[in-house]
Amino acid sequence: MVHGGSMRDWMAVASEAALKAGGILRDNIHGIREITYKGDINLATEMDMRSERAIVEILLAAFPDHGILAEEETTIRNDSGFMWIIDPLDGTTNYAHGYPCFSVSIALERQGEIILGVVYDPMRNELFSAEKGKGAYLNGNNIHVSAVDTLIKSLLATGFPYDRKVSEKNNMDFFHDLLMASQEVRRDGSAALDLCSVASGRFDGFWELKLKPWDVAAGSLIVHEAGGMVSDLSGTKLDIHGDEILASNGRIHGQMAERLRDAIRRKALRSQNAG
Ligand code: IPD
Ligand code: CA
Ligand code: CA
Repeated sequence: MVHGGSMRDWMAVASEAALKAGGILRDNIHGIREITYKGDINLATEMDMRSERAIVEILLAAFPDHGILAEEETTIRNDSGFMWIIDPLDGTTNYAHGYPCFSVSIALERQGEIILGVVYDPMRNELFSAEKGKGAYLNGNNIHVSAVDTLIKSLLATGFPYDRKVSEKNNMDFFHDLLMASQEVRRDGSAALDLCSVASGRFDGFWELKLKPWDVAAGSLIVHEAGGMVSDLSGTKLDIHGDEILASNGRIHGQMAERLRDAIRRKALRSQNAG
């Protein structure tokens, strides 16, 4: 027993919470939903809140002294050394439109290190999970990243930040370059699931800007434990509180980072020339 429970307890309770919340989301996907706008295109539905409350209730019933960092309304900071990082509905825009691509993401951070992650896709009933150092799993079966080793044969995924209409750092240049250099690029709308798709070999690489800790905490551990690599865009250590992520099967990581560097260089040259 470690303070606040054991790894087995944490995984059991995190999985229970993800399945419960995912079930609530699945059962209500065709219902009428109240939508609140956090910005002109950044929204939250009443289901984001209901999912979060269900997760927080289950976690706090089991581990009342743990901290919580959840997207919508729950932040509990204390000196327990444990912090649950939660996205109760990753892919809200999809959900609000009834597009069945969304997930629940729950990670456990201990003394600043992510030691457990679960991501649940309720529409496919797929539960991705990983514990630090113990491999990655999909519904209990071991998963691995793909073996694709060239960018031109790679299926990539990305997303675009909510402030894309007003910020120049909107991923358009990177998207153009990687679309031209790869086989295809998808934009599915749930970063946590994009990461799990890298972990399970469905995607070969993924990058995005301006994500939040709850988007990437669980999925990045799952990629790492599936044998992949996660970093910032330049290839250095990922900071889940930072604002960029590059994840891949490892084999194409350098090629992706090089393309991204090229895009940055060209953009700098263009603005120099314009100035
Ligand atoms: C969003 C999704 C999306 C990504 C956005 C995220 P939300 O999370 O992960 O794929 O492109 O940047 O904010 O708002 O649906 O929880
Ligand atoms: Ca999210
Ligand atoms: Ca969310």
